[in-house]
Amino acid sequence: MIKFAGIADPYRVGVYSVERNAAVLQRYRYLHEGLLRAAAGQLPGRGDWNLRMGMCKHLYEDAEAADLLHKRIPELRTSSAVLVKDPDPRLTLLMEELVHAQTDLEWASAVYEVIKPAMLEAFRHHLAHTQQIVDQPTIRILRQAAADLEDQIEWGAALLVDLRTQGEPSGEEQELCSVLRLLLQAAGGVAGDLPRSAEVPRRWRSGKPYAIPSRSRRDPNRMGPTTLARTGVENPPADPVLRELVFKMRVRQEEMTACDLIAGVLYSQQHMPWSFYHDLARHIWDEARHAMFGQAALEEDGYEWMTRPQYTSDYDVNAEKIPAAQYAWLSIGIEEGAMVSLGKKKEFEWCRDEAKHPLMTQFQDYDWADEVVHANLGRKWAPDLMGEPIGFVREIAQKELDHFWAEVRKAEQQQAK
Ligand SMILES: [Fe+2]
Ligand SMILES: [Fe+2]
Repeated sequence: MIKFAGIADPYRVGVYSVERNAAVLQRYRYLHEGLLRAAAGQLPGRGDWNLRMGMCKHLYEDAEAADLLHKRIPELRTSSAVLVKDPDPRLTLLMEELVHAQTDLEWASAVYEVIKPAMLEAFRHHLAHTQQIVDQPTIRILRQAAADLEDQIEWGAALLVDLRTQGEPSGEEQELCSVLRLLLQAAGGVAGDLPRSAEVPRRWRSGKPYAIPSRSRRDPNRMGPTTLARTGVENPPADPVLRELVFKMRVRQEEMTACDLIAGVLYSQQHMPWSFYHDLARHIWDEARHAMFGQAALEEDGYEWMTRPQYTSDYDVNAEKIPAAQYAWLSIGIEEGAMVSLGKKKEFEWCRDEAKHPLMTQFQDYDWADEVVHANLGRKWAPDLMGEPIGFVREIAQKELDHFWAEVRKAEQQQAK
């Protein structure tokens, strides 16, 4: 249609008033944010490698959708004060039960078979029944969110087949799913527009607060054990340049441990502005992509990595520290440090000029670009978290680095014995 800039159905009255729309979008925002926070809390305890990658991608996509809704809701004659509020205690309970998932299968079935399908159905309904001219800014947001949800649910279905056929401990995933379905029903569905009873649901597992694990997990069936010392590949090449290159590929692959660390910070650090959580979601997804760089390079060149020991020091060595110290260690100690030493630039140039490996050169080129962003995130948030100026945060980060390297050296000496 040429008229109305191609907007279909321009004459039909929609079902959402401004007030109703804002209330419904507030629920969507809450669910995307709740999924982000729960995924961050769950990540260190999840084992399956493919699930971990999916979690990191999807929590970033949840953060992007939530961010757009943060901007849209105040456009609907609604105070931005609602953006820090939970819209419905039954949805709050839904998220509190979700974060208690105890197995990979429980998490994946709850997210990809219950919560996300319910959100997709609600978004499709919204897209179809809102007035197409008045609500075009919302339509644009929900179309993208629905497209992401479709991909996520399709991917989740394939992952669940894999988890179920490899005999992943089944846990109580059916029970968790029925608890979550009942909570959604009690809340009148995702949009809150279905009939609901006056009976308020009881807690199931969430009577105790969720405790984030003190050691990160890797799949004990398909992967090697976790380790605080790097182990490279099984039969490293004799050629010194090639050996260094393959070692570098594994260092990238093991960046999953940085995802765990940032996820722990995101989950544990409360009462920060929304932009902090939005930034950290991106930071997690970037580190997961860096791990994919290593995985892709190793697999392309025929090196086995999955059954090798898996380096988990970033999370495990720093787990007892407060989130402010953890984030200062990573973003200022490691990431800003790599800018000061030109470490990231040198890695890129080495892959290009010495190793002459096109795929790793491209990966390191973008890795360097991402790390410039991360060092900036560190300068933005680490002083805020610590309540100290950047100069003092750098001193703190140095102390944390000293502690970290001492622990890793100890593990390396143990391994050498
Ligand atoms: Fe990285
Ligand atoms: Fe980074």
